[in-house]
Amino acid sequence: MKNIGISIIGSGSAIPKVFLDNQQLSQIVDTSDEWISSRTGISQRRLADTTESLCSLATQASLAAIGQANITAQDIDLIILATSTPDDLFGTASKIQGELGATKAVAFDLTAACSGFVFGLVTAAQFIRNGVYQNVLLIGADILSRWVDWEDRTTCVLFGDGAGAVVLQASESDRLLGFELRSDGSQNGCLNLSYQPQAKEIIEGVNVSQGTYQPISMNGKEVYRFAVQKVPEVIEKALFRANLDVEKVDWLLLHQANKRIIDAVANRLKIPSEKVISNLSNYGNTSAASIPLALDEAVRKGKVKSGDIIAASGFGAGLTWGAIIFEWSGIKLSQK
Ligand code: ACO
Repeated sequence: MKNIGISIIGSGSAIPKVFLDNQQLSQIVDTSDEWISSRTGISQRRLADTTESLCSLATQASLAAIGQANITAQDIDLIILATSTPDDLFGTASKIQGELGATKAVAFDLTAACSGFVFGLVTAAQFIRNGVYQNVLLIGADILSRWVDWEDRTTCVLFGDGAGAVVLQASESDRLLGFELRSDGSQNGCLNLSYQPQAKEIIEGVNVSQGTYQPISMNGKEVYRFAVQKVPEVIEKALFRANLDVEKVDWLLLHQANKRIIDAVANRLKIPSEKVISNLSNYGNTSAASIPLALDEAVRKGKVKSGDIIAASGFGAGLTWGAIIFEWSGIKLSQK
């Protein structure tokens, strides 16, 4: 049987209208632009209001990706939505499928926090490589502002909302060159958006758990240590699998969590700053959206070009982390 490869042929993104800068945040909690900028590299973030939903942002990003890929929604076989903040706990991917009119596509949600896009891309690739599907829409989208404790200065300054999407297509040459995915549940308590059970007696002697999700809690120092140690390792492993030296990487594209993490990882890998893609300053940590959002901006600015090799890595709650090495295919934007 002939080997089937993967090309990533289009990207799109969407951001909420409302933004909040560090100065405004300092009116909500005891913080300052100086603290947030110097410790994180974030200047502002976008926040979804009640007129926006995960579905609406994800659909907008998807339409842009489908348009750039020069296919139609009816061409899509599979939709994977990487998110931790669905509009509906039963899943939001199907609603997006309906909004897009992607009548042929099967759709499901995938949850791996800030690693969701990377885990989703590798999952999508399996369906293409085994010959089942031709066109896959992968979305990374999150509205963490719904779950942030807006009185907790240690977390509320970090997060923002957004959506990004890519279209993957079966192709003769394989442009997903290598990957490595990891999980470590023993450190699960470092970063949580967890359900807190509360007993409700529905009949004498029968209790069910009817609680609520608690706001995001994070041990920032532990997550920082974990990211700086594990992300370079996983990128090196993925490069090894791709049989590539780090010098061949055109762009380093990390989950946009903290500028200091991005700088430390780039330094460890000896990747110069001009090869680092970052839009963290404008959006903060948008979780599963951060990699496709930054990728889409770089593609649309003409920074990332067809044939460029990208090393991308996501990391976050779970704990989960992973890296993908891929060659950007795109379509020639000038042809459109
Ligand atoms: N404004 C002002 N002061 C603050 C703020 C704030 N917003 N937040 C904390 N501080 C204070 C602390 O209270 C502390 O004060 P103290 O010394 O009097 O106790 C001091 O600043 C230093 O706090 P640290 O926690 O040591 O700050 P640090 O330099 O570690 O930076 C940060 C904190 C930015 C959270 C960092 O640890 C970090 O980026 N961690 C990684 C987070 C991350 O990458 N998450 C990604 C995954 S997200 C996901 O998966 C959904």
